[in-house]
Amino acid sequence: MTTADRPLVIHTIAELREFVRSRRERGASVALVPTMGALHNGHLSLVERAAGLADTVVVSIFVNPLQFGVGEDLERYPRALDADVEALGGHGAAVVFAPSVDEMYPNGPSLTRVTAGPVGSLFEGATRPGHFDGMLTVVAKLFNIVQPDVAVFGQKDAQQVRLVKQMVLDLNLPLRIEVAPTVREDDGLALSSRNRFLTSDESTVALVLSKALQAAADSAPKGAAAARDAAHAVFANEPGAVLDYFEIVGADTFQPVAEGVSGPAVAIVAASVGATRLIDNRPIDLG
Ligand code: PAF
Repeated sequence: MTTADRPLVIHTIAELREFVRSRRERGASVALVPTMGALHNGHLSLVERAAGLADTVVVSIFVNPLQFGVGEDLERYPRALDADVEALGGHGAAVVFAPSVDEMYPNGPSLTRVTAGPVGSLFEGATRPGHFDGMLTVVAKLFNIVQPDVAVFGQKDAQQVRLVKQMVLDLNLPLRIEVAPTVREDDGLALSSRNRFLTSDESTVALVLSKALQAAADSAPKGAAAARDAAHAVFANEPGAVLDYFEIVGADTFQPVAEGVSGPAVAIVAASVGATRLIDNRPIDLG
């Protein structure tokens, strides 16, 4: 990789603002790809999408303490800045914004928070209370720091995307949200930074998530109840995974779809495999 391909790395808000200001002065549009690092091909696909949408791509890498609850994996969450910068080479990122916790929260955890509202306490929010408030708060801060024209998120975090879009709408934030499809291994496992915690046996067990989603999609023409039953049957055959939730929800409402409702919906799932909690989802068409 040449130095020209390698993104610049900036650690402070002041320098990042100056970098963006100088790009804007030259007429460049700006895209932001917010990440927590430990980048994989899914992240790189977001960066490539962003590079197709704007002249300058900023990738933020920040493991946000505010969105981790007590007993969650904040300490263990992988941090790999050098490898991340290396991986980003040639994918179109101009700059990596990698602030410290003190840079983002100089007075300790932010007292002012964005509240995710009712959808924020369902599913991921029910298992991880406060997670979405913490996520939206840091995303709002990143939007204010970078002031991008567009930000790109992955469909893999379907509930997160739903809530970020709501925040942009509710708070009149002047940017567009683009959503890029989930990237999977050949065997169906959705790419996730947490996959690196899985042993090879656990990676095989983890396929239960994508298999359950597939079973739900296959049974969807018979209705929501059949789709749910099919997914639960897949989990029943995989004792190595502990199911947190599987549900068929409306893409906008994130409310469970009632039996008899037809049309597009989203199947969402979360399960633990060993010490690793995984989530996945896929659009389905209910008959
Ligand atoms: O999806 C993530 O990696 C995080 O939730 C995000 C959006 C970067 C905020 O910390």
